[in-house]
Amino acid sequence: MSALTVGMEDGIAVITFDLPGEPVNKFSQAVKDEFLALFDRLEGDQAVRGAVLISGKPDSFVAGADIDEFLRWTTAAQAEKASRDGHAMLDRLEGLRLPVVAAIHGACMGGGLEAELACAYRVVSDHPKTVLALPEVQLGIFPGAGGTQRLPRTVGLQAALDMILTGKNVRARKAAQIGLVHEMVHPAILRQVAVQRAREIADGVRDRNPDARRRNAASFLLEENPVGRGIVLRKARAMTLKKTRGNYPAPLAALDAIAAGYDDPAKGYREEARLFGEMAMTPISRELIGIFFASTALKKDSGVGDAPVTTLPVRKLGILGAGFMGAGIAGVAVQKGTLVRLKDADLARVGKGLAAIRDVLKEGVTRRHITRQQMDDQLLLAGGTTDYSGFENVDLVIEAVFEDVHVKHTVVREVERVLPPHAIVASNTSTIPITRIAQASSRPERVLGMHFFSPVHKMPLLEIIVTAQTAREVTASAVAYGKTLGKTVIVVRDAPGFYVNRILAPYLNEAGRLLDGGAAIDAVDTALLDFGFPVGPITLLDEVGLDIAGKSGAIFLDAFGDRLAPSATLRKVVESGRLGRKGKQGFYRYDADGRKGGIDESVYAFTPSGAQRVTIAADEMQQRCVLGMVNEAVRCLEEGIIASPRDGDIGAVFGIGFPPFRGGPFRYIDAVGAGWVVEQLEELNSRFGGRFEPAERLILMARKGERFHPAGMRAV
Ligand code: NAI
Repeated sequence: MSALTVGMEDGIAVITFDLPGEPVNKFSQAVKDEFLALFDRLEGDQAVRGAVLISGKPDSFVAGADIDEFLRWTTAAQAEKASRDGHAMLDRLEGLRLPVVAAIHGACMGGGLEAELACAYRVVSDHPKTVLALPEVQLGIFPGAGGTQRLPRTVGLQAALDMILTGKNVRARKAAQIGLVHEMVHPAILRQVAVQRAREIADGVRDRNPDARRRNAASFLLEENPVGRGIVLRKARAMTLKKTRGNYPAPLAALDAIAAGYDDPAKGYREEARLFGEMAMTPISRELIGIFFASTALKKDSGVGDAPVTTLPVRKLGILGAGFMGAGIAGVAVQKGTLVRLKDADLARVGKGLAAIRDVLKEGVTRRHITRQQMDDQLLLAGGTTDYSGFENVDLVIEAVFEDVHVKHTVVREVERVLPPHAIVASNTSTIPITRIAQASSRPERVLGMHFFSPVHKMPLLEIIVTAQTAREVTASAVAYGKTLGKTVIVVRDAPGFYVNRILAPYLNEAGRLLDGGAAIDAVDTALLDFGFPVGPITLLDEVGLDIAGKSGAIFLDAFGDRLAPSATLRKVVESGRLGRKGKQGFYRYDADGRKGGIDESVYAFTPSGAQRVTIAADEMQQRCVLGMVNEAVRCLEEGIIASPRDGDIGAVFGIGFPPFRGGPFRYIDAVGAGWVVEQLEELNSRFGGRFEPAERLILMARKGERFHPAGMRAV
């Protein structure tokens, strides 16, 4: 079946790209061949004066390259060739006799954006779904179909770097402002305007690919002479190195390709292809692509296996507790069009919750993701109450009241008196077993955990916790709704700490024990930042709140004994009443606005070694924290808390920020080898009295030389 159909409109060929059987358009080898054949046909037809390229998918233009094809490359030369083929195809597009106008509505990513850069004119729809980006660096590669060459020429060096080095989304209005596209129009007239522009260019009354950049003196000084460009490129390199701590080579390779293009355009394309080939073969890219496949697979996963299951749509959501998390969940829900009823103990708290929702939505207006009108419409979806009025027709209730089992039991009993029989009751608890919460329920088969992470509107993961009693369709419905909220969902079995907090425990404990042993706070944080975590563990303790860390520490000690006992330092710091950032006093100092300062040296008084600090090698600190975490992840798999290594990797990367380029705990073990991990754990275990006992499964795998994921990239 063909991906391209052509309709003629008075000498203009309208090419509709609609990849059969796929939700989005992708450039595969077959699609590229089809384009090339079509170009030949159109070029040879003198009746065709111009063309328009438009997508047949409702809300997306082109998602990018077909990443499945990357799996076939086994050498850098193959990837380099794919890049050169991309160059040839887009050169052909750019050089066609007939002008091709891109009519872009919806996402235009990666190869899609590189293709539009080769078009003679570009029109975008003025629509929130229209976003343009070069997200390749997020997969450990960089744009390899001419993007590092055409983009700087089109939008200027600084704007191009901003896109290529970060992969960030550019919305329609901004795209028009920076000259990435030529025109922005209402979606209803997109096609018509594009046809018109193709005709005008064919008639010679409009230029091909006119320069739409707005230049000013600063950009002239910095970008349009070699000295200025040198400064910009050097600064970008330094910033990238600082941000990635040297863990991600692809943005640096992109910088090299861009620089080469300024020396000599032909060399630029050659370097782009060569470096693309090199990057496509790095283990970093393999791991990042593994995560991409895993999260794509999770999007299609019902959470309850393959047998058919009916899911209950959530039209109205009840939330108990309008505090930090309750309001956060409500904010995300109204953005997705769910009617929300928010209940708290008194009106003042309900009001505070509604104000917090408004703040989240306002952020969207400030960032121009939504209009003020849309914000007002979304706000109208949220209502508040101090009793259970309005709960008689909710489909799902999420409780986010205080972390106290008695309070949770009370609200579950109260709400169930009003709920319709089909409604699901979910708890957002971070530590209380769901089975225990369900004891207060008259229908425990409709109870589960929906563990959101804070801040809810930013954190991508949702951990759904099922008990032995949770009904299958209840789980599937919660999973489906979690996806509606835009979350990546993993389903885990009920046990203390569930999965994410459970594997975090040994990691944070070990960071505390390093302080017990005399390590400096900043040395511990730096070592784990260098390993690739987004924040250091001691900073994370301050962020989470030391009171909360203390409470969950006690729960883990209770459930798992000494293996997961909190450090002496943490226990003493918690006893001292320091709360971390929210109390503006923790391991670090905070100013009146909660901004983090330097280490609070006085906190060393709580460490057994006192102010005397010793140096512990960074790799030892990394190993103690990280191997404790990955060992615990394997135990969770052994105990059936997570269903697969894939879920364990995604939970760690999306919930904790386990370095994405290491692929998650299980991919990390595969990369370094189960044998090596067991050896290290045994060595640590002999030094640190039993808390590094390797998981049975790891020992077995080491013995047999097995892996968690098959060799190669696919994580499903
Ligand atoms: P919070 O203290 O900000 O909010 C709790 C809210 O519940 C308060 O507004 C309180 O007035 C209300 N509440 C108490 N009793 C109530 C009742 N009987 N009926 C209605 N409302 C009642 O607490 P936060 O941080 O939002 O935590 C809520 C839940 O979410 C806890 O179970 C916590 O463990 C969990 N959680 C918290 C995370 C965090 O980072 N803060 C992360 C993930 C889960």
